[in-house]
Amino acid sequence: MDSRPIGVFDSGIGGLTVLKELALQFPHESFLYLGDTARLPYGSKSAHTIRKYSEQNIQFLKRLDVKAIVIACNTASTQVPEPELEGLPIYNVIGPGAQRALEVSHSKRIGVLGTRATINSKAYSHKIMDLDPSASVIDQACPLFVPLAEEGWDSDPVTNLIVFRYLSQILQHSIDTLILGCTHYPLLKNSIARVTGSSIELVDSGEAIARWLERDFSKNRLGRNANSSHQKIEIMTTDSSAHFTEMALKILKPVKADEFKVVDLN
Ligand code: DGL
Repeated sequence: MDSRPIGVFDSGIGGLTVLKELALQFPHESFLYLGDTARLPYGSKSAHTIRKYSEQNIQFLKRLDVKAIVIACNTASTQVPEPELEGLPIYNVIGPGAQRALEVSHSKRIGVLGTRATINSKAYSHKIMDLDPSASVIDQACPLFVPLAEEGWDSDPVTNLIVFRYLSQILQHSIDTLILGCTHYPLLKNSIARVTGSSIELVDSGEAIARWLERDFSKNRLGRNANSSHQKIEIMTTDSSAHFTEMALKILKPVKADEFKVVDLN
């Protein structure tokens, strides 16, 4: 048993798609969410900078005495492969997403969408090929998706057109599974599904990492918070604006946050 909260971080508010999934899946667990909104986006930055920011976020959450850290951000996940830091379990979303895609794919022809940094790192391709060398992976960076998601433009004709433009190449490779390798992309799920059609399975990070945590809770690698009647959710960001808060509430629904605050990582 462990009543401490689970720390979750992302470059911004996109990771709330992951937090929402975890909060619904584990209603007795409490969560501390950190969105590095002051330094967003990570996806256009160098590997060195992404690693530095991620390490600062990890140290910040570690000081708040969390029992585990989930790196919700795919871009950050590509730069922090370590499974633990001084005994603190650290989960990134690459392994869970890759494994889930292989589970649902029949043809083992898998597409991956992500930020430029995520796609350039080849983290998903390497992980999928490690798990199943017979698989083939086709990837595509979609840098315009993050601002569209932050505008709340799912199902908008402009978004549908941009999704079509990014996906037209990938769809020529007869994939049957598509990893939404960025926390923002589930917010464009309607537009993406409209272009892929129902024969392509979409895999998102939130669902995939929730399965991994459940496995670790079951194996007692993570202690459950067995005595909590009230799930506590605290959202911390490194910068704030009315738009961010409005989007955050929309993304989290029906999950309710107990507290929103701006923090200084130092
Ligand atoms: N949260 C990032 C991810 O999952 C995308 C946004 C960014 O570029 O910072 O890759």
